[in-house]
Amino acid sequence: MCGIVGYVGPRQALDVLLDGLRRLEYRGYDSAGVVLLNEKGLEVERATGKLSALAERLKRKPIPGTTGLGHTRWATHGGVTESNAHPHRSCDGRIAVVHNGIVENYQELRRELHGHEFSSATDTEVLAHLIEHHYSKLKGHPLKAVSRALGKVRGSFALGVIFADYPGLLLAARVNCPLVLGVGKGENFLASDLSALLKYTRKIIPLEENEIAKIDAEGVQIFDRALGKIRRRPLEVPWKAETALKGGYPHFMLKEIFEQQQTIAAEVGGRGEALDDVRIPRDIERVVVVACGTAWHAGLVGKVAIEELARLPVDVGMASELRYGDAPFGPETLTIAISQSGETADTLAAVRIAQEAGSKVLAVTNVKGSTLSREADQVLFMRAGLEIGVAATKTYTSQVMNMLFLAAHLGRRRGALAADRFQAIVREARRLPGLVERVLEDTAGIRKCARKFSRGYDFMYIGRRYNLATAFEGALKMKEISYLHAEGYGAGEMKHGPLALVDDSMTCVAIAPKGRVTEKMISNIQEIRARRGRVIAVATKGDRSVRSVADHVFEIPDCEEMFSPVLAAIPLQLFAYHVATSLGRDVDQPRNLAKSVTVE
Ligand code: F6R
Repeated sequence: MCGIVGYVGPRQALDVLLDGLRRLEYRGYDSAGVVLLNEKGLEVERATGKLSALAERLKRKPIPGTTGLGHTRWATHGGVTESNAHPHRSCDGRIAVVHNGIVENYQELRRELHGHEFSSATDTEVLAHLIEHHYSKLKGHPLKAVSRALGKVRGSFALGVIFADYPGLLLAARVNCPLVLGVGKGENFLASDLSALLKYTRKIIPLEENEIAKIDAEGVQIFDRALGKIRRRPLEVPWKAETALKGGYPHFMLKEIFEQQQTIAAEVGGRGEALDDVRIPRDIERVVVVACGTAWHAGLVGKVAIEELARLPVDVGMASELRYGDAPFGPETLTIAISQSGETADTLAAVRIAQEAGSKVLAVTNVKGSTLSREADQVLFMRAGLEIGVAATKTYTSQVMNMLFLAAHLGRRRGALAADRFQAIVREARRLPGLVERVLEDTAGIRKCARKFSRGYDFMYIGRRYNLATAFEGALKMKEISYLHAEGYGAGEMKHGPLALVDDSMTCVAIAPKGRVTEKMISNIQEIRARRGRVIAVATKGDRSVRSVADHVFEIPDCEEMFSPVLAAIPLQLFAYHVATSLGRDVDQPRNLAKSVTVE
């Protein structure tokens, strides 16, 4: 959904911008561009395709300057062409903007801007002209010009603006799209997210809704739309810059899969205290989970656990649907919003609807300072660390762990879960990092199997109860990085339709670890085999009954059923990874996708 970065200070800005864009490239990789201010005025370079195309051009012809902006695009309005790449400039070329978001009324604004010449098909370009219009009406004054221009705009944006008349100055603004300011010593930054800044500073200021910032080398100043000054202290973020490096792995995704032993250990350690601080209203009658994509799958695991352990009814709403529905939220509903980034537009919209109806919102998110973490009533921070691969891996298992812990704590507080069962769950959780390590130790079989199955076209993932979500998640991982067709189904649903698809060209992945429904899963596998479908099963080590009916088995160690989705997700992440790499796919930056979906 586009990434923006800005720098002002003593360094050559180009290096900082390209470095920042490299870290933001997961947000979009249709085209990239930079603008720098130097004695020639605003110098722009843009290129379609990945950032490397732009970097190559700039290597041949670097642009000097110590103030600049950069952009990496995920196309919404206008095709993937150089003229549609950001930055966009005003008619006189003395104002340039980079933008993440959508200007909803851009056609209307474009019609109103008589005499302005447009050179792209984007919604963004209208911002450069609108700011130019107000700037010339005001005879200067960049801050006022931006504020007035934004007063006319409907939609969502994180914006960076640079003026040829004001060396050493950047302006930034946000409505409904993330933007953080980085505070350095004698230099300052802006970026769509902090991964672009970690190399330079860990002091950040998240810009709030409707705020405008003035950034120069000496400092940052924040204003509301009426240009009243706002004081805000920077936050110190705990992540290190090295987190954003591949550490010897060929892809971030693989590195992040292998980090799960540490991230699960981090989730288990000290989780008790974090949950003790969570205040759950005593009189809640139901829980509604709001989330999208992989986070929605974590919500499905949470539903099974909360209903089992806390005996509370749970609905898991797709935030994109929920925001336009009439789901009855109220003070008796606890809303749990799960979002790795804390910036997903649909999830934030659903949260606001829940809060307006009087529901308290508990956020499960990975990013300190994210919009969700600031708007929610309470926050459980995941301990997954920075995730760069577009496909969620370690953050999924972290989300699941948080939902399981939450379920156990809810159960305890409501008196639905006996103390000894609670203790048994805590003891089992402590074993998990070691069990994850065992799953990760033996991955050669998965790689071999992936090579064999990458020649197939259709995958059907099936599961039940705790692992219904694993089926959805396994299929999502497969389709998003390999571009092969994969669907997740409840195994019990097969006879209601999907079984018609099964023949010798279909590969079914059955998630069948030890638990309440293993025998049911074995029956489902038999039905698939009887129709000549091939079956890969995820099963508990030593379970002969599943092994005897499947063509291939990915083993996971024996554990409490409720923790099996954490272990079972890992071989499926690896399976998708190896299928995708054997097909030569770009697993860290799959086509058409971006890591955080900050627009609808
Ligand atoms: C898939 C994936 C997405 C995200 C979804 C929600 O691998 O990463 O489906 O889970 O876009 O993102 P967050 O959790 O940031 O709200």
